Amino acid sequence: MQKILDLISEEMKKAFEEAGYDAALGRATLSNRPDLCEYQCNGAMAGAKKYHKAPLVIAQEVAQKLTESEVLAEVSAVAPGFLNMKVKESFVRDYLRNMRENDKFGLAKPEKSKKIIIDYGGPNVAKPLHVGHLRSAIIGESIKRICRYAGHEVIGDIHLGDWGLQMGLIITELQKRQPDLVYFDDDYEGDYPVEAPFTIGELEEIYPTASAKSKEDESYKADAMEATYKLQSGVRGYRALWDHIIAVSVADLKKNYANLNVEFDLWKGESDVHDLIPGMVEMMKRDGYAYESDGALVVDVKEETDTKEVPPCMILKSDGASLYNTTDLATIMDRMEHYCPDEIIYLTDKRQDLYFEQVFRCARKTKLVNEDTELVHIGFGTMNGKDGKPFKTREGGVMRLENLIREINEEMIRKIQENGETKGAAVDMEQAQETAKIVGLAAIKYGDLSNQASKDYIFDMDRFTSFEGDTGPYVLYTIVRIKSILAKYEEQGGKLTDIVIQEATSESEKSLMLELTKYSAMMEAACEEIAPHRICAYIYDLANAFNHFYHETKILTEEDAEKKAGWIALLTLTREVLETCIDLLGFSAPERM
Ligand code: ARG
Repeated sequence: MQKILDLISEEMKKAFEEAGYDAALGRATLSNRPDLCEYQCNGAMAGAKKYHKAPLVIAQEVAQKLTESEVLAEVSAVAPGFLNMKVKESFVRDYLRNMRENDKFGLAKPEKSKKIIIDYGGPNVAKPLHVGHLRSAIIGESIKRICRYAGHEVIGDIHLGDWGLQMGLIITELQKRQPDLVYFDDDYEGDYPVEAPFTIGELEEIYPTASAKSKEDESYKADAMEATYKLQSGVRGYRALWDHIIAVSVADLKKNYANLNVEFDLWKGESDVHDLIPGMVEMMKRDGYAYESDGALVVDVKEETDTKEVPPCMILKSDGASLYNTTDLATIMDRMEHYCPDEIIYLTDKRQDLYFEQVFRCARKTKLVNEDTELVHIGFGTMNGKDGKPFKTREGGVMRLENLIREINEEMIRKIQENGETKGAAVDMEQAQETAKIVGLAAIKYGDLSNQASKDYIFDMDRFTSFEGDTGPYVLYTIVRIKSILAKYEEQGGKLTDIVIQEATSESEKSLMLELTKYSAMMEAACEEIAPHRICAYIYDLANAFNHFYHETKILTEEDAEKKAGWIALLTLTREVLETCIDLLGFSAPERM
């Protein structure tokens, strides 16, 4: 389906042409004076010079050609030469009827469907998930859903941090605690136990303990590095222990991500490309890209146009160990070989901006990627507390994700009870908890996604969980309200099928309808700009338009059955659009609130 602005522009172009002017001048835009008109066109202003005519005269001539228009109800030429337009009720009605009949509300397929890999989440095995990983998961999941919905082939990869020093630290600490474990017996040749010698709870305690010790004790750190090295060079017992660590962690991570409504297609990690590293390094040396510098192996990536210093990309440390860069480069190689994507999108904190710049340049220079494969880093800002500093617990520690979610849920339950009480309804505790989980997730995700990703934002529990204002719960509340009206309509004997949208009969109804017509343009922009906040802004406006209409209209007591059914059809479309949008943001609406 064509976008509404394109249809209006077409109408304008015809009129410009008929009046003897260049059709290209007829481009229409949304009005920036909604109090005066719905759409506007500034083509007469632009044409004045070329045609040596007063813009107002051109505008008047064009307006003349539109008196019989099927699209425009009002076209006025105003000084100094603007064209202000209002669209016909019947045109909007037909547009919305089409939206209801078309797949994805008429969203056009992309010119070229791309294969996109999204690298997001990026948790580190055995380290607890903290709020720093939250943004990557939330934004990445939404981008994955948006691009997929828009018609691209999208693969989401969690890219586990499962190969670095943290693994050596855990193994070292285990060895100190349980030196007799069979994994540490070099002479052991039998099978290793199926059960892990630790639980997830122990694992989460072991890592911080080991990490703290290594910072104080040089020899402990040396042991951990040695253990990392042994693991990476394939010592059997170490690999077996590592398998346990991964299995226990991944099971826990899956549970955590499921609670967040986040799903990955691939659970690959840094370790998966370990075997590719020697070949890649060899190639980089052979082709003359990599050279030795202070014992380390590096590739120069600076460019003449750089305004800031871009240091060389390090491929191997002086002890021959690989780094975060090395695994990322090898992962690019692996992805090209297995998926040959048109684009790879990475989601991390924006503090990794320079890092990705180096990695991308190195990948291009060494030809690990095809020339036309795009590498995109989306660096997001920090989630701050109300004090403007990175979000911490009340005690001042790093907030763990589970705790954050628990706190939100508690606050949500409180708000749901409060809301029930003001309505005089009894609140069923079990149901309130179920609802709180759904609404709490919306509060967190909307609070995050409604900001442009690159910006820092303040995590404000009170605001995010509010049922009013630009929040997730407000949008859900609106959906629940629509659902309840639709249910009551059915109770009255009305049917939700075979009903059609009618012409608007009030200002608020038309505003709601016009809001709905913006869907395709908004969705295209959200996908092209990789910008979930576009969807948030849209559903907030849509929810406002709906609530305005709702407060001004007695829907269920309307006596004209056709009119009433038309409103119900309009509500159905509003609900479907809102539900589609929140699904793309990664949350859903409860039955009641
Ligand atoms: N594990 C990393 C971290 O916690 C994030 C990984 C991001 N993805 C990547 N391909 N480097 O910072």
